[in-house]
Amino acid sequence: MDRYAVVGNPIAHSKSPVIHGLFAEQTGQALTYDKMLVELTSFDEEVAGFFALGGKGLNVTVPFKEQAYRYADELSGRARAAGAVNTLIVQTEGTVWGDNTDGVGLVADLLAQGWALAGKRILILGAGGAVRGIVGPLLEQNPQSLVIANRTLEKAAAIAQAFPTGAIGVSAYTDLQGDFDLIINGTSASLGGELPPLPGGIANANSAAYDLMYGAEPTTFLHWAEEQGVGQRSDGLGMLVEQAAEAFFLWRGVRPETAPVIARLREMIAAA
Ligand code: ATR
Repeated sequence: MDRYAVVGNPIAHSKSPVIHGLFAEQTGQALTYDKMLVELTSFDEEVAGFFALGGKGLNVTVPFKEQAYRYADELSGRARAAGAVNTLIVQTEGTVWGDNTDGVGLVADLLAQGWALAGKRILILGAGGAVRGIVGPLLEQNPQSLVIANRTLEKAAAIAQAFPTGAIGVSAYTDLQGDFDLIINGTSASLGGELPPLPGGIANANSAAYDLMYGAEPTTFLHWAEEQGVGQRSDGLGMLVEQAAEAFFLWRGVRPETAPVIARLREMIAAA
C-alpha cells in the first residue's frame, strides 16, 4: 500500500492522519498515513529514509517547512513565492517535488464560506512564515488592496518586496486607518491569549474576520472581532482541511469533498 505521513515536532496532536484517513475512505484510495516525529537536527536524514523505503509523499508542518523547501529537488511557483514547503511528493524518476498548499487552502475555505475576495480590502495581521505562505494566493483573487501589519515592520516590508506586482501596503498596528472587508489573523499572539494593539474602527458589521489558528473555543482574535460587531467570523479549521485536500489531490489525482470532513473534525474537536 502507498505510504504517506506528516512530519513535524511536536506532532502528537496533528489532525492530518484523521483528515487523510477520511479522504482515503471517501474516495476509495488504498493508502496509509502516519505521524512522523523528527528531531530538529535530523529532518533531511529521516525524510530521505522515508522515501528510500518507498514512501510516496509527506506533509510538512512546524518547524520544518523552510527545511523542506531546501530539501526539495524541484519547487512549484507557489512554494518558491512562499519560501516554504508543506507537501513533498516523489516523482516517477525519484526526484522530490515540493509544493505549498497552505495559501490555496485558505482561499478555498474563504470562498467556500461565501466570502468573496475580488475587489475587497484585506488586512493581514502578522508577517511570519504562515503569512508569507498565504499572500500569493490571496493576491491572485484580485483584492482591491492588501495591507500587512506587524509588530516588526521590516518583516512585513520583506514580504511585500517578495511580491513586487502585488502593491502591498505595510503598517504598524497602531497606524492602521480606515476599515477593512476582511481581516486575517496570522500572528501567533492569540495562542498565548494576546492580541496585537489594534485601533478601533478597522472592522464593522460588514467585515469578516478569519483566524489561521483554530481550537475548541473561539480564539482571542475572534473574541475581539465579535466585540467589534464583525458579522462573519471563522477559525482556521477549514483551511487545515482544504490544504490537506490539495495535497491529497497532488498525490492521488483525486479531489476529496471537504465539507463533511470539516464537519466531522469540528465534532471531534468539540468532544475532545
Ligand atoms: P509562523 O511561522 O507561525 O507565522 P512566526 O514566523 O514565529 O510563526 O511568526 C509569528 C508572528 O506572530 C509574527 O508576525 C510575530 O510578530 P513579529 O514578527 O513582530 O515577531 C507575531 N507575534 C507573535 N507574538 C506576538 C505578540 N505577542 N504580539 C504581536 N505579534 C506577535
